[in-house]
Amino acid sequence: MRRVLITGGSRGIGKVIAERFRRVGYDVITPTHEELDLSSIDSIREYMTQNKHLEVDVLINNAAQNKVSIIKELSIEEWQQILTINLTSPFILIQHATRHMMVHRWGRIVNISSCYSLVSRSGRSAYSASKAGLNALTRTAALEYADFNILVNAVCPGFIDTEMTRQNNTPGQISDLCKQIPVQRLGTPDEVADFVFYLGSEQNTYITGQTLIIDGGFMSR
Ligand SMILES: NC(=O)c1ccc[n+]([C@@H]2O[C@H](COP(=O)([O-])OP(=O)(O)OC[C@H]3O[C@@H](n4cnc5c(N)ncnc54)[C@H](OP(=O)(O)O)[C@@H]3O)[C@@H](O)[C@H]2O)c1
Repeated sequence: MRRVLITGGSRGIGKVIAERFRRVGYDVITPTHEELDLSSIDSIREYMTQNKHLEVDVLINNAAQNKVSIIKELSIEEWQQILTINLTSPFILIQHATRHMMVHRWGRIVNISSCYSLVSRSGRSAYSASKAGLNALTRTAALEYADFNILVNAVCPGFIDTEMTRQNNTPGQISDLCKQIPVQRLGTPDEVADFVFYLGSEQNTYITGQTLIIDGGFMSR
């Protein structure tokens, strides 16, 4: 049975990705925020030494935070925290999870990025920078691990109907956003989960190093 580790599986997109893998019989591990605090490198190290949960075949780096603040007002500590959760943690998890994958000569890694890795908006400096970094990390990891049949991709959702979207946008802003999305609605976590499942399962045999957008056409305008 294939084992998959999904960060940020408590809610939103991560929760639905976890359900998608469970439904078809994967052994799914979704550490809670308390068990694995991705803002703390010590917590990540402790998690890895306390259990063998990184003996996984599939790694989904999904957890992330977004601090909406213009550059002038964003503190170094806030910048650092977003970069640690969204970029440094996936780096450390990839570094460790690939050890098991290399031995078994099979692995799939999906990094959940964002359309804000490719474009941005006022107040998203740390989030955009972290996600652009995640795309770059994806490409390098894909090259370094291709020999071991470890395929690494990034998925960039557009506007998906989750708590994160509702926290960062007023209902009025969401309605305005929908008018800018060619399909005229937010995406659903299920739509993202199906796409991530394809890339992170046996179904994907040849796609690697890609940054794939799922956004209802938003980026094509
Ligand atoms: N929603 C969108 O429209 C959208 C668009 C583009 C990209 N994305 C990306 O999709 C992914 C999921 O987004 P979402 O909207 O589902 O997010 P969400 O609802 O805000 O959930 C975020 C998840 O990350 C976890 N998390 C946050 N900080 C953590 C930390 N320090 N340590 C461990 N876990 C932590 C949360 O755990 P707790 O519940 O314990 O806090 C939660 O499970 C993210 O990478 C996001 O950037 C989302």
